[in-house]
Amino acid sequence: MSGMQLFGATTYAERRKRLQQAIPSGIILLMGNEESPCNYTDNVYPYRQDSNFLYFLGIDQPGLAAIIDVDAGKTILFGDDPDIMHIVWMGALPSMSELATAAGGAETMPYSRMESYLSDARSKGRSIHYLPPYRAENSIKLSVWTGIPLNGLAAGASVPLIEAIVALRAHKSEEEIAQMEQAVNTSGLMHIAAMKAARPGMKEYELVGLVESIARAGGGALPYTVILSVNGQILHNHYYGNTLHPGQLVLGDFGAETGMHYAGDITRTFPADQQFTTRQKEIYQIVLDTEVAAIQSLKPGIRYLDVHLAAGRQIAEGMKSLGLMKGDSDAAVAAGAHALFFPHGLGHMIGLDVHDMEDLGENYVGYGSEVTRSTQFGLRSLRLARALQPGFVLTVEPGIYFIPELINLWRKEKLHTEFINYEKLEAYYDFGGIRIEDNVLITTEGHRVLGNPIPKTIAEVEALRAG
Ligand code: GLY
Ligand code: MN
Ligand code: MN
Repeated sequence: MSGMQLFGATTYAERRKRLQQAIPSGIILLMGNEESPCNYTDNVYPYRQDSNFLYFLGIDQPGLAAIIDVDAGKTILFGDDPDIMHIVWMGALPSMSELATAAGGAETMPYSRMESYLSDARSKGRSIHYLPPYRAENSIKLSVWTGIPLNGLAAGASVPLIEAIVALRAHKSEEEIAQMEQAVNTSGLMHIAAMKAARPGMKEYELVGLVESIARAGGGALPYTVILSVNGQILHNHYYGNTLHPGQLVLGDFGAETGMHYAGDITRTFPADQQFTTRQKEIYQIVLDTEVAAIQSLKPGIRYLDVHLAAGRQIAEGMKSLGLMKGDSDAAVAAGAHALFFPHGLGHMIGLDVHDMEDLGENYVGYGSEVTRSTQFGLRSLRLARALQPGFVLTVEPGIYFIPELINLWRKEKLHTEFINYEKLEAYYDFGGIRIEDNVLITTEGHRVLGNPIPKTIAEVEALRAG
């Protein structure tokens, strides 16, 4: 079908059956995404289908919405056959009935029928389960269709539907895991290419251009905007205009999506020179040891909150060994002092979205009823805290950063002076940051790092830099 990639039709029929079983009655509305204008109507952002729509219907094109009528036990796909003008400009598309077949069987109706279908359901007092919209064009449509004002849409989203979808999508099937391995493998090629190509004097954007082309050549697109910088301490840096200078570190956090939109999310950090300096090695080894130990501890039943806190203690211990922190590491982590260097969470679920299902609400995905989210700086940014289950795929991504503005602020406010050696930090203001990130599947026995190994020991990275 026009290059669109789907799993077999039964996959989608089966997923919808399980969703129907979880929702006792009413109507489930799944909205597809539309083309979205960039700088004028006909010049659009790269098209990205909604991930829930992809999961339950697989169809990767705009102009569609679906209803799962739980009471009638059927799916209705709303959309229109392409007209001749569409075919002239954009090429032929599958018919609605072909799409419905590929999606595992559905009735079809013209898109314009959605409004009356929903108003009929409303007049009969049936519940309409919808998901929180995150795109303006879908919010407007949803508001028109349901009669709910725009500012009431988020509150009206169906919690049972959100919870049912999280329960399904959190467990990756064999065919999904194969996609995710492929995503990591392409992501690995991107990182290896960057580590081989980087030279002092280059601009960051030269490396960005290189790695983006490899994602494309892998048959997919980017799951998120490339992060690549000599300012690794800027966690989600999207500015690429700096020149690589000797003595600097380069932090690259990027990956590829497969053609079916499964994401890879990998981070590596390497020296602009062929070798790390001693100071860089010391910090790098702490981050690497922390990442490896965290991965090693992963198994069903362990709470990711506890893995995150153990990583924090290991980072605090490492910083203590360098004289940058002091005092009791358990107490330092309980107080949140280590978050000066490690201000983000250890990781998140990954799948069709790089932060999987975040449109449904981070707490439903990562916390549920099991763990209450902390408000402490650092810990509050942890996206995944609950106990792990077989089939979960998540990222492990500890980091150590020297953020001069944050250090200055804490120092001025005399924060955590019993745990932090502020004078010693002065030598690290130009250090940047180090993060190392891999994607890991939870298995019944323990865990498996997805994809081919991507060089990450000091010796492996230096060998690539020299080669
Ligand atoms: N790539 C963003 C993250 O690691 O969460
Ligand atoms: Mn990342
Ligand atoms: Mn990540």
